[in-house]
Amino acid sequence: MTNPFRLDGKTALVTGANAGIGQAIALALGQAGAQVVVAARRPATETLAALGAQGRTLTLDLSDPLAARDAFAAEPVDILVNNAGTIRRADSLDYSEADWDAVMDVNLKAVFFTTQAFARAVTAREGRGKVINIASLLSFQGGIRVPAYTASKHGVAGLTKILANEWAAGGINVNAIAPGYIETANTAALREDPERSAAILDRIPAGRWGRPEDIAQTAVFLAAPASDYIHGAVLNVDGGWLAR
Ligand SMILES: NC(=O)c1ccc[n+]([C@@H]2O[C@H](COP(=O)([O-])OP(=O)(O)OC[C@H]3O[C@@H](n4cnc5c(N)ncnc54)[C@H](OP(=O)(O)O)[C@@H]3O)[C@@H](O)[C@H]2O)c1
Repeated sequence: MTNPFRLDGKTALVTGANAGIGQAIALALGQAGAQVVVAARRPATETLAALGAQGRTLTLDLSDPLAARDAFAAEPVDILVNNAGTIRRADSLDYSEADWDAVMDVNLKAVFFTTQAFARAVTAREGRGKVINIASLLSFQGGIRVPAYTASKHGVAGLTKILANEWAAGGINVNAIAPGYIETANTAALREDPERSAAILDRIPAGRWGRPEDIAQTAVFLAAPASDYIHGAVLNVDGGWLAR
């Protein structure tokens, strides 16, 4: 019997695969047998070296939300991971339109139009597809001083549901992962602040920060046949944070 957690013969495209969670997802998908298109706006040397013959590179700067319009034309892609994301912090009273647009373009508008391009290609070849969006705790909670990030990540959860509704019958699964506090460059400043770090850790039932691998293995599950009946889910991978 074929192992329902394997991805042999599949091709995955991961955005923001040069670092952090995206890099871990790219490597885990490769370990599960997939060929991986490592999409990033800068050279993803480390990710590509680790993937070897299973990886190829694609330059993709999603500050142009339509940058991926032709990314699925060259070869069939079965799995899309919308991981690239950005954050800008300021009091909401002072938040600028430039910061708002920069965050919304990468975190929400690019997610929609990249997914649309992927789904069009899958549909045109009458194939099957898996979309995995990287949401956030701020898909559910408010946060502070991050209005565009919170709005964008709530939007990602909403998009996950509407696209699942529209495409489930056509053989495309759309789901999301909401990571908790994960040890990446993104959260280095928080972890270096003894007070914030202790307060966060104290609230995590699992008693530790998440690791990129925790998200990566969940992505393998959502990419694999094992999750074929899961549509429109936003899976919390947060050490229990949202359960408190
Ligand atoms: N770490 C956490 O605790 C946490 C929690 C919840 C959700 N998330 C989400 O997880 C995802 C990955 O974040 P991370 O923690 O791994 O942080 P990270 O290390 O800062 O990675 C963010 C990735 O997105 C890429 N990116 C940003 N703007 C881009 C653009 N315009 N075009 C293409 N790529 C762009 C970055 O590329 P560059 O290296 O070129 O900047 C990088 O590869 C994000 O969606 C984030 O919101 C993270």
